[in-house]
Amino acid sequence: MISDAQYQRDNNLATRIAFHEDYTSPYVDFSHWVMDYLPLSAGARVLELGCGNGEFWARNAARLPKNLTLVLTDSSAGMVEAAEKRLAAAGVSATYQVMSAERPFADNEGFDLILAKHMLYHVADRPSALSASKNLLRPGGWFCVTTNSGSYMKQLQALLTEERVEWYSSFTDEFTLENGAEQLTNHFSDIELVTLDGQLVVPRADAVVEYIKSTASLFPEPHAVLEACDDIRSKIQAVIDHTGAFTISKQAGLFRCQ
Ligand SMILES: C[S@@+](CC[C@H](N)C(=O)[O-])C[C@H]1O[C@@H](n2cnc3c(N)ncnc32)[C@H](O)[C@@H]1O
Repeated sequence: MISDAQYQRDNNLATRIAFHEDYTSPYVDFSHWVMDYLPLSAGARVLELGCGNGEFWARNAARLPKNLTLVLTDSSAGMVEAAEKRLAAAGVSATYQVMSAERPFADNEGFDLILAKHMLYHVADRPSALSASKNLLRPGGWFCVTTNSGSYMKQLQALLTEERVEWYSSFTDEFTLENGAEQLTNHFSDIELVTLDGQLVVPRADAVVEYIKSTASLFPEPHAVLEACDDIRSKIQAVIDHTGAFTISKQAGLFRCQ
């Protein structure tokens, strides 16, 4: 279960998105990468679960097929509000609803595509959310999910483990590139995975520490994370002094299911 502090507003999420934006090297826009693989055509009816601050649609505003019907939902009212503002500014038209993925609204028309981007690991009752999603799809509709590898950012995991801070994998490990397919097969017959390997090359210790702080409320003991930050900053600075940058590996991917 995630603490309310993490997603009440979009500030923590925005810090992490900016970190990836600034330091992914070579640069790949993950939102564009996902869009390139989404089975999305003009006129499609689309539901997003856990839309966060709407970053995905705002970044793809100029690349969207025509006449989409977008329904953006999130269990956090603060996120839905942030998404609405962001998409209005980006000129993307959508409707919005505060909604938990486990208990979606009734819908008679059906969706051509349901997107769950980096959010299924937060969902406590995933079997209910997956079966509800399947029921909301039109025949031939797509359920698309992005998530991370279990070894995502292993260099940060190692730093925190050295400081005896329990990593927040207790929930992110619930739905990863490695164990996702097994969970999806109970609901979808056709599952395909595409993956993206990348790295962050960070020349500023403070930037890494700000990233870690933005995740603190996800950890079992947030105060332990904050207390460890000074030691972690020194260790990262030592690496930067020696090699010019602190490198963090990351692997993410997209499941496309029918
Ligand atoms: C890591 S953020 C990802 C946001 C966005 N999809 C993105 O990729 O930028 C996870 C989002 O899932 C939402 N969330 C968590 N549990 C949820 C649930 N059970 N139903 C719907 N949304 C949920 C959170 O409020 C948060 O906005």
